[in-house]
Amino acid sequence: MDQHAPAGFVDYLARHEQKDLLRFLTCGSVDDGKSTLIGRLLYDTKLLFEDQLASLERDSKKHGTTGADIDFALLVDGLEAEREQGITIDVAYRFFATDRRKFIVADTPGHEQYTRNMATGASNADVAVILIDARKGVLTQTRRHSFIVSLLGIRHVVLAVNKMDLVDFSKEVFDRILADYRSFADALGFETLVPIPLSARFGDNVIERGEALGWYEGPTLLAHLETVEAARDTASGPFRMPVQWVNRPDLDFRGFSGTIARGTVRPGDPVVAAGSGRTSRVKAIVTYDGPRDAAVAGEAVTLTLEDEIDISRGEVIAAAEDRPEVSDQVSAHLIWMHDERLIPGRTYLIKSGARTVAATVTDIKHKIDVNSFQKLAAKTLDMNEVGVVNIATQEPIAFEPYATNRTMGGFIVVDRLSNLTVGAGMIDFGLRRATNIHWQALDVTKAVRAGLKGQRPVLLWFTGLSGAGKSTIANLVEKRLASLGRHTYLLDGDNVRHGLNRDLGFTAADRVENIRRVAEAAKLMVDAGLIVLASFISPFRAERQMARELFEPGEFIEIFVDTPLAVAEERDPKGLYKRARAGEIKNFTGLDSPYEAPEAPDLRLEGGAAAADALAEAVIAHLDRGGYLG
Ligand code: ADX
Repeated sequence: MDQHAPAGFVDYLARHEQKDLLRFLTCGSVDDGKSTLIGRLLYDTKLLFEDQLASLERDSKKHGTTGADIDFALLVDGLEAEREQGITIDVAYRFFATDRRKFIVADTPGHEQYTRNMATGASNADVAVILIDARKGVLTQTRRHSFIVSLLGIRHVVLAVNKMDLVDFSKEVFDRILADYRSFADALGFETLVPIPLSARFGDNVIERGEALGWYEGPTLLAHLETVEAARDTASGPFRMPVQWVNRPDLDFRGFSGTIARGTVRPGDPVVAAGSGRTSRVKAIVTYDGPRDAAVAGEAVTLTLEDEIDISRGEVIAAAEDRPEVSDQVSAHLIWMHDERLIPGRTYLIKSGARTVAATVTDIKHKIDVNSFQKLAAKTLDMNEVGVVNIATQEPIAFEPYATNRTMGGFIVVDRLSNLTVGAGMIDFGLRRATNIHWQALDVTKAVRAGLKGQRPVLLWFTGLSGAGKSTIANLVEKRLASLGRHTYLLDGDNVRHGLNRDLGFTAADRVENIRRVAEAAKLMVDAGLIVLASFISPFRAERQMARELFEPGEFIEIFVDTPLAVAEERDPKGLYKRARAGEIKNFTGLDSPYEAPEAPDLRLEGGAAAADALAEAVIAHLDRGGYLG
C-alpha cells in the first residue's frame, strides 16, 4: 500500500474532525434486527452523509491522492492493512454523520466465523452496540460477543434491546433482560454500559424518542452515540511510533514514516530505536503541509533524526527516557480463527503493523470457555476458541500491553505456508525468563571443527512415508560416506524415539516437537563439523521448512523418498500398516494422518521404482555434484 494514499484522509479527519469521529461495532444476528437498525441510522442521517461526501470529495481532489473517486475504505484506516494481512472478511464498514459527529460502523455478521469478523471489526472500534431481541433475551451468543468485545479492549457497551414493539414495550421485560445481562457482564469490566430499549422497525429510540417507551428516561441510541466519551487518551503517555516505511528519496534525506501509536513528539525530543537501543533526537516532523512543531497519536508523519542511526521497517521509535518493553517471550490472549487448529511448537508469523516476526506458541496455559468464561485445560485451540498462551518470538519485539495500547499490544498470527490469518492476539505482559540468556561466543568454530575433519558439514534430511525406504537408503549412504573417510552421524526416527524423544507420540503437536528437537540436535552436529543424515517421516511442510531455516544456505539437503503409499503398505516392514488398518494404531501417516509431500525437494528418489543401493548412489552423486565430497 502506498503509505500516503490514506494519509490525506486520515490527516483530514485528524485535523478537522478527530474529536468527532466515533468508531463503533454492532454485534448480533440478522434476526435481532441489526440490518434494520443500521439501515435506519444510515437512512435517517443521509442528508448529512451526502454533505459529508461532497466535502470529502473536495478534499480528496485537493490532496490529489485518489483521483476523482472516493474510496470509502480509505476512510477506515487500518482496513487496507487488514486486507494486506489476508483477513478477507465479511465486515462491512459504513460511514455516516450527523452535525455533531462522524461515525464509522463496522457491521460484523454473527455466523460461525464470528471471532474473525469481530476481531477485524473491533480492531479500532471504541464502542460496541450489542443487540438483543427482546423476545429472546440474553442468548449464548450475547455472552460470547460480550466476552470477545471485552477481550478486544472495547470499554463502552450499548445494550440495544430491540423489538420492544413485540413485547408490548414492556418495562418488566427490559428490566429483566438488563438484570440478566449484568449478572455476567459485570465481570467483564466495561467502563460504561448503557441499556436502551428500542424498536428499529418503528424507529422508537433510534433517532427519535418513542412514545410507547415513555417510561424510559435515557438517551436515544443516536443521542448516546453522539455524546459518549469513548475516545481513548492515546495522546498522553510516552511517545511510540512503529516505522511503516523508511523514506529515502535521495542520499540527503532519510525519514521514518508511520502513524504515531501513542504520545506526542516534538523536534528536539530524545528518541530511541526500541529494538537496537540506539538513541538520537528528532530533527524535524515532516508532513504534506510542511514541517510541524508537534504531532500526536493517530497522526501519520515522517520523522527525521539528528543522527544517522540504522532503523528499518517494523522498528519502533520511542521516547528515550520512557522506553517500551522489549522481549522475545510474552504472555498473550490468543483468539484462534482457523479451522486448522493451533499447533504449539509450530513456527507461525506474527504481524503487528509493519513488523513481522517468526514465533511459536510454547505453552497453552488454559483456554477460556466463551460461554461460561471458565478456564479449561487445553493442548490446542480450535476455531473460535480463546486461550492464554506463552509466545516465543525469534527476535525480540518492542511492545506494550494491549490494555495500555492496542496498536503496540495487538497482533495477528499468520500461517507461513498459506499466508492466511489464523489468529489474533493481545499481549498481556512480557516474560523475562529468556532475556538474560545470551549466546556464548566460542573460539573453536564450526569452520575449525570442519577443517580438522577435512570435510564440509551438511545435513541430509530424508522425508517420506513409513516404509518408504528412508532408513535403508540413509544407512547405505552413511556406509558409503564412512568408506570415503567422512565423519558422519545418522539420526533415525525409531532410534531417537527410544531416548531423546521417548515422551512423544504421533499427534500433530508431538510430531512438530519431534522434528523441532531433531532439527536442533542435527544443527549441533553440523556445528560439530559432521555430515548428518536424518531419517524422519516429517510429514509437515511447515516443520521441514523450520528445520531448513536453522541452517545456512547449502547446509540442508531435503531428500524426498517418494514411494507410493500402496508400495509402502505392501512392504510393511514392521507390520504397522496392517495394525493401523485394523484400528490398533491411530494417527498413522498416509492413513488417518496426513503426509504433505515436498513441493521442491533438493533431491527426489523414486522409492517404488529403483532398488535402495541405486538410490543411495544417486544421493552420493548429488553430493559429489554439489561439491560436498570435495
Ligand atoms: S514423524 O512423523 O514424527 O516424523 P518419525 O519418523 O519420528 O515420525 O517416526 C516414524 C516411525 O514411527 C515409523 O517409521 C514407524 O515405525 C513408527 N510409528 C509408530 N506409530 C506411527 C504412526 N502412527 N504414524 C507413523 N509412524 C508410526
